Amino acid sequence: KKVKVCSPGTSANLGPGYDIFGLALSKPYDTLEVEKTEQGITISVDGEKAEEISTKVDENTAGVVAKKMMEDFNIESGIHIHINKGIKPGSGLGSSSASCAGVAFALNELFELGLSKLELVKYSSLGEAVAAGAPHADNVAPAIFGGFTLTTSYDPLEVLHIPVDIEVLVALPNIQVSTKTAREILPKEIPINDMVNNVGKAAGMIYALYNNDLELFGRYMSKDCVVEPCRANLIDGYDEVKEKVKDMVYGITISGSGPAIITIPKKEHVIDIENIFKDVWNCPVYYTKVGPGCYVE
Ligand code: HSE
Repeated sequence: KKVKVCSPGTSANLGPGYDIFGLALSKPYDTLEVEKTEQGITISVDGEKAEEISTKVDENTAGVVAKKMMEDFNIESGIHIHINKGIKPGSGLGSSSASCAGVAFALNELFELGLSKLELVKYSSLGEAVAAGAPHADNVAPAIFGGFTLTTSYDPLEVLHIPVDIEVLVALPNIQVSTKTAREILPKEIPINDMVNNVGKAAGMIYALYNNDLELFGRYMSKDCVVEPCRANLIDGYDEVKEKVKDMVYGITISGSGPAIITIPKKEHVIDIENIFKDVWNCPVYYTKVGPGCYVE
């Protein structure tokens, strides 16, 4: 028996929603095929930067998730996991999360475990701990639920889900950013004024969704005063691009820990923005929209 699953790329944070907000994207995505075998877990990978991904179970984020689920549910047969990476690792588009969420989703289907979406997010986030040094769930939550998610509590894990229909334009500069480093450079304490700013903007973004107000959503998304200013230094050209596109987008910010950049474009300026991305970074660009969570293909 075999299950084939599509697992979407995701964009975490959306500015002031650090470790809380996440969006599922219609593209790019990973495809996972999970097949029952006699025993043990084996992994193969192809696609984007496959040569850099370990196929050892304990070093592969999807392998870690699969191993824990198989132990917890006393699954005695084995599995082979084949991962086709459509999402470049280290891109800021939830590449490892997509593989973690995809394997959790696939095992739930293959062995008919009957797990809820929240339980799948919990299992998926175990793999994130390996990838990022912290089990943040703001990429795996939208990868499972689709749409827009808020991870409002980590212990116990709580996820709120809001279906949304938003078009986004994402640039993927060819710059290396390690999520671990991008987390380490953040301040351990923040001034209370910054907290007031970020809580206000994050709350306003939800109000904006409620009122279908893309302009307000994007304006607040661009106003994180804690995380984005630190990380902007890791992405050459970011400040320049942000300034150049400011009248062409409703919002722009770093996607996850970068280097991907997510914008909510004004439709009439999509091509102009793409040209600016290409001028500055000469990089891949995705014009896509918010999409569903993992699904069986
Ligand atoms: N919330 C996480 C971070 C997402 O910004 O570090 C990483 O993709």
